[in-house]
Amino acid sequence: MNIGTRLQTIASFVPKNSSLADVGTDHAYLPVWLLKEGVITNAIACDIAEGPCKAAENTVAAYGYKNKIEVRIGNGLECIKPGEVNSLAIAGMGGSTIIDILSRNPEVSNSFSTIVLQPMAASNSLRQWLNKNGFEFLDEGLVEEGNILYEILVVRKADYPTTTLTNIELEVGPCLLKNQNSLFEKYLQKLCLHYEKLLANMSKSETAKKTDKFVSITKIYQELEKLYYERYGKRYC
Ligand SMILES: C[S@@+](CC[C@H](N)C(=O)[O-])C[C@H]1O[C@@H](n2cnc3c(N)ncnc32)[C@H](O)[C@@H]1O
Repeated sequence: MNIGTRLQTIASFVPKNSSLADVGTDHAYLPVWLLKEGVITNAIACDIAEGPCKAAENTVAAYGYKNKIEVRIGNGLECIKPGEVNSLAIAGMGGSTIIDILSRNPEVSNSFSTIVLQPMAASNSLRQWLNKNGFEFLDEGLVEEGNILYEILVVRKADYPTTTLTNIELEVGPCLLKNQNSLFEKYLQKLCLHYEKLLANMSKSETAKKTDKFVSITKIYQELEKLYYERYGKRYC
């Protein structure tokens, strides 16, 4: 079974011997692979739509895991009870969808000892929501597949008051900022280019240039540019 580099890297953050809820499972490749590799003991594979649930049932049956992986249909965490499993994965969805899923069922989202998230967009807003809602960052990762860089966030509800992350930590990721990652330079370049383009577009409008958004984006762009220069001793492009 080849699940690709993105899913395999997400899988590498799931703790050994854990039980997993995979929300938005689609074909259930992640839980099936993790079970096959002996990482997890059992899983609940959930999806909001019938087609993906059918596909998940087919994969689970093909690998003979019907007694270990239960496929459930439902919106986000509404089909999981607190304590049923100890880990959660939500991958391949936008940051705002992930926020929506975690915020709708707080007793469930607060119950996991490990949550592995792979947002497709808006990772900064997701980090901000997690930080504001008392989740601690355990780890973060980067993976490249098909020329796209994906961020992975590993969190859990903290049992102590968390400190507010800085703008640069929200943007880059507090663990990615601290730890070494071979893709970090490329990731930082991508972020700098993104904000450079955004500012260039906004600069075309005199109204946009007067907004608070323009000021805050300029600030974050300057911080990212500075960080790149400090780390690599050159301009990002
Ligand atoms: C792009 S697929 C990602 C599949 C897999 N997690 C991955 O990363 O390869 C997104 C899946 O999430 C499901 N989904 C979207 N919103 C959801 C929600 N609120 N609750 C459960 N599943 C959802 C979709 O039906 C779809 O199957």
